[in-house]
Amino acid sequence: MKLAEMTWPEVETYLEASPGILLPTGSTEQHGPIGLIGTDAICAQAVAEGVGETMNAIVAPTLALTPAPFNLAFPGTISVSPQTFTALVQDVLTSLAQQGFTRIYIVNGHGANIAPLRTAIEKVSQLLDAPLEVRLRSWWDYPQTDALRKRLYGDWEGMHGTPSEVAITQALVRSVTGAEDPPEKLSAEYIRDHAGDRHGEPAEHRRRFPDGRVGSHSALASPEQGAALLESAVREAAADYRVFLEET
Ligand code: NI
Repeated sequence: MKLAEMTWPEVETYLEASPGILLPTGSTEQHGPIGLIGTDAICAQAVAEGVGETMNAIVAPTLALTPAPFNLAFPGTISVSPQTFTALVQDVLTSLAQQGFTRIYIVNGHGANIAPLRTAIEKVSQLLDAPLEVRLRSWWDYPQTDALRKRLYGDWEGMHGTPSEVAITQALVRSVTGAEDPPEKLSAEYIRDHAGDRHGEPAEHRRRFPDGRVGSHSALASPEQGAALLESAVREAAADYRVFLEET
């Protein structure tokens, strides 16, 4: 169930039976020449909504305006500072917790969200009087889903405009053709030093990766693979959400 499509009495009734809610977090940024601007938000929301359907759980509106400063030299990217995003997440978690949503499950689709999300969770847990449990998961981290994307794409999964995320948007929205040639292969050092989307200044980042892909061969994606990846992520996320609700 989408929170936005419910009435407040329906939410109040739900809370009598469950303290759980799903919160998707994505981004609004370039994803290479054939990846959609909303890729991260589309993927995270689809996984969260799949869990919502499986588990009869509420899905909060997707937080899609998040930090993506390194992509600002590509048109269409909207970036907010980590401080702004952290403050927003704190307010969202606090609002929900005060109403009785004391089990908040974040489904993330954007690497640069992870550090500010952790900061926000920590701050809210310290400040709040009410008990609150928050679990943060990025959809590609579920073991079987991670194994599937590695089996499908190997090293060509890369870091940005990944074939796995592009495949999911192809299954859900549309396919764009192009970028048939593989991108520059990343060194192990680059991958290590830039984990969590720690990339450089916008102009330098665009010079370094002119078409926006960062080691990812997006054109390997297909809608069929996207459907399989989404199905896997939803299955694993639903199982994890069930455990999360049952833990005392
Ligand atoms: Ni992405």
